[in-house]
Amino acid sequence: MIKVKKRKILLLPGDGIGPEVIQEVKKVIQWFNSNKSLDFEIDQDLAGGCSFDKHGAPITDEVFYKALECEVVMLGAVGGPKWDNLDFSKKPERALLKLRKELKLFANLRPAICFEQLVDASTLKPEIVSGLDIMIVRELTGGIYFGEPRGIKPIENGERKGVNTHTYTTSEIVRVAKVAFDLAKKRSNKVTSCEKSNVMEAGQLWREEVQELHDKEYKEVELSHMLADNCAMQLLKNPKQFDVIVTDNLFGDMLSDQASMLTGSLGLLPSASLGAKNKDGEMRAMYEPIHGSAPDIAGQGVANPIASILSFAMALRYSLDLDNEADTLEKAVQDVLNDGLRTKDIISEGMKEVSTSVMGDAIISKLQ
Ligand code: IPM
Ligand code: MG
Repeated sequence: MIKVKKRKILLLPGDGIGPEVIQEVKKVIQWFNSNKSLDFEIDQDLAGGCSFDKHGAPITDEVFYKALECEVVMLGAVGGPKWDNLDFSKKPERALLKLRKELKLFANLRPAICFEQLVDASTLKPEIVSGLDIMIVRELTGGIYFGEPRGIKPIENGERKGVNTHTYTTSEIVRVAKVAFDLAKKRSNKVTSCEKSNVMEAGQLWREEVQELHDKEYKEVELSHMLADNCAMQLLKNPKQFDVIVTDNLFGDMLSDQASMLTGSLGLLPSASLGAKNKDGEMRAMYEPIHGSAPDIAGQGVANPIASILSFAMALRYSLDLDNEADTLEKAVQDVLNDGLRTKDIISEGMKEVSTSVMGDAIISKLQ
């Protein structure tokens, strides 16, 4: 059993704009080390397409073991067109899926918050999104992403058949639902559980187990169930009806992308992938911006580092028990936005366009 080393942070910048945005996170961590006398130990390595190019695998065993012993993994982004035609097992995304699965990071927290300064960046009317603050809790290590059997096999008549399997067990549902209920208690006390119980047995089980857990342990939290397709519609119609949404791996993938665009700014949204606490209270966790590797703008110094920096704020809060420091960092981001600084993705009239590193520096200067 590999022990988790306290305060050890592994940076996995990955591909595309990943290295540029993680560089800014590194500066922020170094600032906390020098100015708050924190002793974060930083390591950095390859995962994704860059690892494939160097080692022929999206993540090497060595890097995987490093991730196992770190308290926090900060991931940038993986993937890009360069690796699109690789065999499934070699694709950059496998690094991500392996880390999620083997580190047992079953609860993926994806906040969708509409920053007041950017209300107009959403494609929805300001009154629909202003003040929006949703937390999507996506199950991350089960369901159709990992179910067996899976594969593509030849069948009769020269045809082929693609197979994936969607399964959930009671304990897989209960542990992620607990995370959602516990979060709701610290927010607006409302959980919406989404599945397709009208067509899928695994969805029916999901609904029953969430309800049973609620009735046993979380009666004080308001729980409602919603079919996932309806949830997709309601997110556009009246997103502010939601507080915490808990859902499976695949629906969570889609609903969180949809929710992110309500905020108008993919470049601002962080995420946390959390495991279970062990008996010593230690927990494995990985934090990453929800945006992808954006190969089209990579290397130009225009990427928005805010999502990554806010992912580190989540790490401060959820892994490192440094709520005050997390607040300070989040406030620094707000201050910089209030000053009118914008990266290219969120620029609007009258605002000042700045590069990735200038944005990082500006946030750090607000920490002083
Ligand atoms: C996400 C991404 C990943 C997923 C990909 C890159 C494998 O879309 O984190 O939402 O499908 O989970
Ligand atoms: Mg996705």
